[in-house]
Amino acid sequence: MDARADSPLAVQAEGVRKSFGKTEALCGVDLSVPRGMVYGLLGPNGAGKSTVVRILATLIRADAGTALVDGVDVARKPATVRSRIGLAGQYAAVDEYLTGRENLEMFGRLSGLRKADARARATELLERFDLTDAADRPSKGYSGGMRRRLDLAASLAARPPILFLDEPTTGLDPRSRLTMWSVIQDLVDDGTTVLLTTQYLEEADRLAQRIAVIDRGVVIAEGTPAELKARVGGEGLEVAVVEPADLERARTILSRVATDEVFVDPERRRVRAAVADGPRALADVAGQIAAEGIPTEDVGLHRPTLDEVFLALTGRPAEDDDGAAATDEGSG
Ligand SMILES: Nc1ncnc2c1ncn2[C@@H]1O[C@H](COP(=O)(O)OP(=O)(O)OP(=O)(O)O)[C@@H](O)[C@H]1O
Ligand SMILES: [Mg+2]
Repeated sequence: MDARADSPLAVQAEGVRKSFGKTEALCGVDLSVPRGMVYGLLGPNGAGKSTVVRILATLIRADAGTALVDGVDVARKPATVRSRIGLAGQYAAVDEYLTGRENLEMFGRLSGLRKADARARATELLERFDLTDAADRPSKGYSGGMRRRLDLAASLAARPPILFLDEPTTGLDPRSRLTMWSVIQDLVDDGTTVLLTTQYLEEADRLAQRIAVIDRGVVIAEGTPAELKARVGGEGLEVAVVEPADLERARTILSRVATDEVFVDPERRRVRAAVADGPRALADVAGQIAAEGIPTEDVGLHRPTLDEVFLALTGRPAEDDDGAAATDEGSG
């Protein structure tokens, strides 16, 4: 009895709630993740991202609500769910005293592969994640980026159709982050569905076809990256002039490409506006400024950040302080 073919969604959650003591981590989360894409779950520290992932991965149980993964109820058939998912958590699960190869063989065996198959799969994964050279060294000596890649490789030992990645790039340097992004993209190209949590709009924007923004245990917005960015006014173009007297001319130039009102900041001698086609607007504006000979300090594109998304959606900045988030918590 395979429910998989019946369900068009990789994940379907409704009204999921979870409290830890007095802390309401999830206050009724709804989530629909279509198959075959990277789906981003975006939110600041303490928003509830890991709690969602842990419930979907059957590591903890929800207090209320329902969640189906690959069409299977996580509360009723956790073992079935586990056989269809991979999980790479916020904290690496690999055994640091084993080598990379030994770790992968062990995960393969744990997921039910025969010894020879586990060995072949380990070799394949080491190759794929660019770990072949380090394969026979204890993973204790791996860099942070290598450990994350090994952890991700381990979660793929059983070729799961659905993969949960909890902040796969937090703490990685920019180069390791790029490697991780390309690995994730490859997985999706091969047909894997990836639910990825992140604190970075840039990452969700780059990888995800759809994003749910989660805040204080509730999904407060859902859509494509373009839709979410449009809600904060999309990409911004900013011009900083040297002479305050040039502000008005800069404003006029910017108004020709702006999709909305031009914002003038006399104190910082800047004008700023949302634009539709960033690179093109940048080229236009830079050209006109040069043609008019206006001295500038800076002309540049400004991508919205998670903070701006939050401000636009909630009217308050994203909190990265669990304590602050807990202060106005109702206790009944
Ligand atoms: N085992 C636990 N015991 C007590 N409180 C918990 C537990 N797990 C999570 N919480 C609380 O639940 C809330 C949501 O936590 P969660 O780990 O899901 O957030 P997150 O979005 O993953 O944050 P981060 O970006 O920091 O990983 C937080 O207030 C957190 O302190
Ligand atoms: Mg987390």
